[in-house]
Amino acid sequence: MSEVLFETKGVSKIFGLFKAVHDVDFSVLENDAVGIIGPNGAGKTTFINILTGEYFPEEGSVFFRGEDITNLKSEKRVAKGIIRTFQLVHVFDSITVFDNIALSIYRKKEGTAFPLNLYTTVFRKNREITESAEKALEVFDLIKDRNQLVRNLSLGSQKRLEIAMAWAADPEVFILDEPFAGISDHEIDDIIGILKKLVHKKTIIIVEHKLSKLTEIVDTLCVMHEGKMIASGPCEETLNNPIVRKSYWKIED
Ligand SMILES: Nc1ncnc2c1ncn2[C@@H]1O[C@H](COP(=O)(O)OP(=O)(O)OP(=O)(O)O)[C@@H](O)[C@H]1O
Ligand SMILES: [Mg+2]
Repeated sequence: MSEVLFETKGVSKIFGLFKAVHDVDFSVLENDAVGIIGPNGAGKTTFINILTGEYFPEEGSVFFRGEDITNLKSEKRVAKGIIRTFQLVHVFDSITVFDNIALSIYRKKEGTAFPLNLYTTVFRKNREITESAEKALEVFDLIKDRNQLVRNLSLGSQKRLEIAMAWAADPEVFILDEPFAGISDHEIDDIIGILKKLVHKKTIIIVEHKLSKLTEIVDTLCVMHEGKMIASGPCEETLNNPIVRKSYWKIED
């Protein structure tokens, strides 16, 4: 039996008078792949930010491997292997593809923010880091872009790089916020091919609007609506759930 890896109990995030995330219970089993869907403004990114420590919830608790991490800072969660990508791509565009990946590995190892001023002296001489970075370049088909400044890459390649950075950090849980937004179908299929190799080897949580692409990867689907987690379960079952049909698909049975 797989154990519960990540869990929230009754978490809420309040901005002023507005509850962007409302009393959410969520759990993901180790090595499961979970998708989160919901309309714009449903609270998906805010919820992800609670999982990763960018936001602390006003109510409720967050557990990782049974440990209460509700008040743990994001850098410390990274060191535990809670690694994410962002809806708006987060990469350093004035350094090379290789150095971005090396920095990500360093960040996980040290549990600190990126020490950009140190990267040439520290990372390039550390064999463990450079070997892991080379491996990530290979897996994500970025070898040809190795020495490119990131600002010269297409958005699709930048997204692939960001996922490569997360993968290279050897995550316990891999959290992707809209990995397919703004990129071509061809680039999406490339990323799906890579993610499929990770399914059931790593725990994966993906927020995505492109449902047909998402269900190629995930086993479990969760639906958020107006800050609440209104359903979760196997994909087909969730999509046919009467509450989801009404709130998400706007179908009146
Ligand atoms: N820092 C903030 N301050 C105030 N309101 C916020 C803040 N962050 C998010 N919100 C609001 O909370 C709600 C949920 O936002 P969130 O970004 O989590 O939605 P989402 O489901 O990720 O949407 P999308 O699919 O468009 O990315 C929105 O109404 C948003 O405007
Ligand atoms: Mg979002």
